[in-house]
Amino acid sequence: MSGKITLIIDGQEIEAEIGQTILDAADAAGVYIPRLCAMKGLSPHGSCRVCTVHVNGRPQAACTQPVAPGMSIENETPELKAHRVSVIDMLFVEGNHYCMFCEKSGNCELQAVAYRLGILAPQHDYMFPCRGVDASHPEVFIDGNRCILCGRCVRASQELDNKNVFQFVGRGIHKRLTFNAPNNLSQTDLAGIDKAVDSCPVGAILRKGTAFSVPIGQRLYDNEPIGSEIESGRRTNDRQV
Ligand code: SF4
Ligand code: FES
Repeated sequence: MSGKITLIIDGQEIEAEIGQTILDAADAAGVYIPRLCAMKGLSPHGSCRVCTVHVNGRPQAACTQPVAPGMSIENETPELKAHRVSVIDMLFVEGNHYCMFCEKSGNCELQAVAYRLGILAPQHDYMFPCRGVDASHPEVFIDGNRCILCGRCVRASQELDNKNVFQFVGRGIHKRLTFNAPNNLSQTDLAGIDKAVDSCPVGAILRKGTAFSVPIGQRLYDNEPIGSEIESGRRTNDRQV
């Protein structure tokens, strides 16, 4: 089924295509809904809950919920902002995100969403995890302590690279990223040019030898907040960094 419908986001009427998710329809209409596990070109995952909106008063993940005629969606409310701040805050303290020393700083979506939401300091105690760091691959470096378990690399490897390099193991607090080799990343079929390498929103997967090719101050989110590109209709979060 295809065709156009109208719905309301924050009091503004927008047009959407049947079959679109709320997130895609909002992007197309120039309305930014914060997100982390969603990425253009990948199947939706619905795991981070940063994109939670209220649909006719009920919370829904905008990245997985299809549009429907007559929907009334709230995106910018104090309650939703508090929810998003809380989620981002927890992601920060359960990993080791030392932004001032991280080469992803300025290109990091976690950092950028935090700034957009006005987060300056965490509300909870840091957990200081001690997960694996793997520098065995000639072109790619992984720091599990920065992984926010968004699953973008898992899906990108499967859906865009036609491989299956990354998976999750463990549950709850013990959930972590692993890969399809017994010992280290160099034993996998990951290539430096794989889309999975570009898909990481934080500094957990980094391409070696590119750290400061774009200087601090000239990076994606150094001069305008994340979401500005959607609000100005320029482009969406499929940008590679
Ligand atoms: S390594 Fe990056 S892309 Fe993969 S799950 Fe962790 S944060 Fe997401
Ligand atoms: S972006 Fe929708 S749940 Fe993560």
